[in-house]
Order: sequence, then C-alpha cells, then structure tokens
Amino acid sequence: MSQLLLQNRKIVLGITGGIAAYKACELCRLLVKNGADVRVVMTEAAAKMVGPATLSALTHHEVMTDVFQDAEGIDHIAITNDADLYVVAPATANSIAKFACGLADNALTTSVLASACPIVIAPAMNTRMLLNPATKQNLKTLQDRGVYIIAPEDGELACGDKGMGRMRNPEDIFSYICALLNDHIALPYKGFEPEALPSPEEPAALTQTKLLPKSHGAGIKIVITAGPTEEHIDPARVITNKSSGKMGYALAQMAATMGADVTLISGPTHLATPNNVKRVDVTSASQMLDAVKSQVGQANIFIGCAAVSDYRLIEPMHTKLKKEDHGEFLTLELVKNEDIIAYVGHLDEDRPFTVGFAAETDNFEDNAREKLLRKKLDLIVLNDVSDPEIGFNSNDNAASVFNEKGIVTSFGKMSKVKLADLLMELILAEYKSSRESEKKSKK
Ligand code: PMT
Repeated sequence: MSQLLLQNRKIVLGITGGIAAYKACELCRLLVKNGADVRVVMTEAAAKMVGPATLSALTHHEVMTDVFQDAEGIDHIAITNDADLYVVAPATANSIAKFACGLADNALTTSVLASACPIVIAPAMNTRMLLNPATKQNLKTLQDRGVYIIAPEDGELACGDKGMGRMRNPEDIFSYICALLNDHIALPYKGFEPEALPSPEEPAALTQTKLLPKSHGAGIKIVITAGPTEEHIDPARVITNKSSGKMGYALAQMAATMGADVTLISGPTHLATPNNVKRVDVTSASQMLDAVKSQVGQANIFIGCAAVSDYRLIEPMHTKLKKEDHGEFLTLELVKNEDIIAYVGHLDEDRPFTVGFAAETDNFEDNAREKLLRKKLDLIVLNDVSDPEIGFNSNDNAASVFNEKGIVTSFGKMSKVKLADLLMELILAEYKSSRESEKKSKK
C-alpha cells in the first residue's frame, strides 16, 4: 500500500455501537498512517466497545463522545467545518435510522446532521435487521440524499449467525475513501439482494457531485447505449449475449459526473441507474434503434457501447416451442438487424460525434478499423473480449482508441469505472477539437 494517500485530508470518523467498532481502530490507523488528520466522534455505546483513549492515541486528538464537550475547542457542529469527509464505521441500524430521520440526540448524530462535508457510512448489523424493510428504506433515504453507502458483506456476524451484514474490512473501507477523495470514484449501495451487493471493485453510480469538480461535459448532450439486447425466440427463450452493461453504465456515470446531459439507452441489465442520468429501457435491437432514433437528433455525442444482437428471428413464436414438435434438429431462421451505430454515423443532418466499441477476439486492429470506416465513426474503442478478465461482465477492461488516421491512445488494464473516466475525457476533448476544426473550415 503506498504511503500518504490522504495527505492534507481532514476526515471525521464516527463510530457507533456495534461489535465491529473494534475494526474502526484499524481503519483509523490506516487513515492516520496515510496522512489524514482524523477526528473521532463516538456514541456512548461505541465508547463501551472500544476505549476513546485508544482512538485518541491513534489520532493525537481528543475524542468527542458528548454534545456538551468541546474537544480541543471544537464543538459537535464545528467538527465537520473543514472536513473533507465524514465516515461512519460501523453504522448500526439504530444510528442509520436516526440519520434517516434527522435525529440529533448525541454528539455523533448531531455532527452528522450538521455535517458540512460528504458522508460515507459502512453499515454493520445482523442480517434480519439489514433485511428489515425499515432499514432498507432508511438506507434508500440516505442514498437518495447523497450519502455514500459501503454495502456490507456476507460472512460471520457477531451474533454467531452467518449472513449479510458484516461490515467491510478496514482495508476495503480505506480503499473506498481513497477512491472517493482521490479519483472521485464511489461505489454504491445497490440493494440487499445478496447477488446485487457490489464488491468493492465493482463500478457503480456516483451519488453526489460535491467531490467532483470536473465540468468539461457541461452543456453537452450525450446518448449512450449499453448492455445486451434480447431477441425473442418464443415467450420463454431469447437470443442474447454476455454484456452486463458495466462499461456503458460507467461511461454514463462519468459523463454525468462531468456535467453532461446524459441519456442511457439500456438493454436488460441488473445495474442501478447512475445519478443524473436519464435511462430508457429497451429489450430488442429494433427497440434500441427506435430509442436511438428518437434521442439522437438532439445529441452532440453518441456512444454505442451496447452489444447489439446482429440477428433476430424472422418470426418469433407466439407460444412456447415444444421439442416434441421438432425432430432431432431445430432450424431457426434469422434476419439481420439494422446496424444502429452505422445509422447514426451515416446521418446527413444533425449527426453527432459518433463513438463505437469493437468487441473483438482476433484480428483486433484490422477489425476495429474496418468497423470505424464502414460505420463512419469518429472514434472506435477496441476491447479484447476473449480475455474474461477484461471482457464481458468483468470489472476491468483495457482498450485502444482509433480514429481514421490510426491509433489515438491505449489504456492498460484498469477498472471499467476508471477507464470510463479516461475515455470520457478523451471523447469530450476529441469532440471539442472536431467542432473547432469544423468551425474553422466553414470560415
Ligand atoms: O457490458 P459489459 O459486460 O461491461 O461489456 C462491455 C462490452 C464488451 C460489451 C463493451 O465494451 C463493447 O465492446 N461493446 C460493443 C460490443 C459489440 O457489439 O461490438 P461489435 O464489434 O459487435 O459492434 C461494433 C459497434 O457496432 C458497437 O459500437 C455496437 O454497439 C455497434 N452495433 C453493432 C451491431 C448492431 N446491430 N448495431 C450496433 O450499433
């Protein structure tokens, strides 16, 4: 782990009364070791779990446990005044409920309510408490207000049960904080279906823009397609592919973060809609084409990241196909779908700056460049989908970007969120320079 990742950062660490409070000491140690100036606020129950003296020794500051106490002359209101972040770890169901209601009945809840900085919470509790609709609603309320929630994980709980609700380990929370403060990347709370809970690496929606000073997308309308499409065979079966939507959603998230007006046209995915993004859900390639046609007229930039089915059934069946009605072999007659991005690329009027993706398994560069020219794209992002670590449904990707003159740049393996950040910067810069050149050539 590199040193001083949080140099000059002021962080308030709130500790509530869960067994996981002991892990807050390690989190505190990591924050301090990496240069952060950490102030600790504890509930009365937390102070029974771990001694304030320990945290005071770790932070070199007095620990606040009481609203009537001025820790080193700083009160419970002023404590967040110059803080970069307020992290509550662990956050118990009780404190989460208080945050959601806006209660201020102790030093911690009061300082959270009065917080002048972004807030991150790391819930920790028994599974049944976590799955209780009251807790889920409280977390949703907080998320909607822009609180960052580090979803708890599955594992052994203090009560002896096994299940969802264990606080993330201090290293994960520390990485999250670094990503949030340094890269402006946040990971979301996505619900409590275990399969929907994100791993710390998973890309996701940014929940607030306070930390995100980038604004070079302002005034630019971007339409992005993402995810797979589904072509119906019969009411029960579809032709689809392995796209998860992660890459396209990350692009939408980053574009919105940069201030762009973003419409995400999405095939079926399990992903949460990124904040400040308009989402249009479609199923088939022809529905995606219709949605693109209705949106693209107003767009400055179109990005085709969806894995669109190239073919559909000529006649999908209205009732479920029965194997008894067919012999050993079944032949399905397919017809080609219209190429959505080629439609956009060939527009004569109101043609947006058009960026495609090439999902390749061989002949990488030749295939990508052929697609760029045939579909009349301004840029194409080539990615290798033969490698499961950087292809469909992975959290990481690597890509090379081409224009008609050749390679523009290459990005090594990194998270799809980080790649989306770099790609959006590049796409916006290329879009702006192409508009400048257009203006000059008109003069
Ligand atoms: O969703 P993830 O799991 O995160 O995976 C990301 C990804 C691998 C799907 C993404 O990075 C990617 O490569 N998307 C493009 C997938 C694709 O269909 O590639 P293609 O080479 O078949 O098509 C080239 C371009 O034409 C793409 O921009 C595609 O959106 C577009 N196309 C293709 C067919 C069609 N009928 N209409 C289209 O617009």
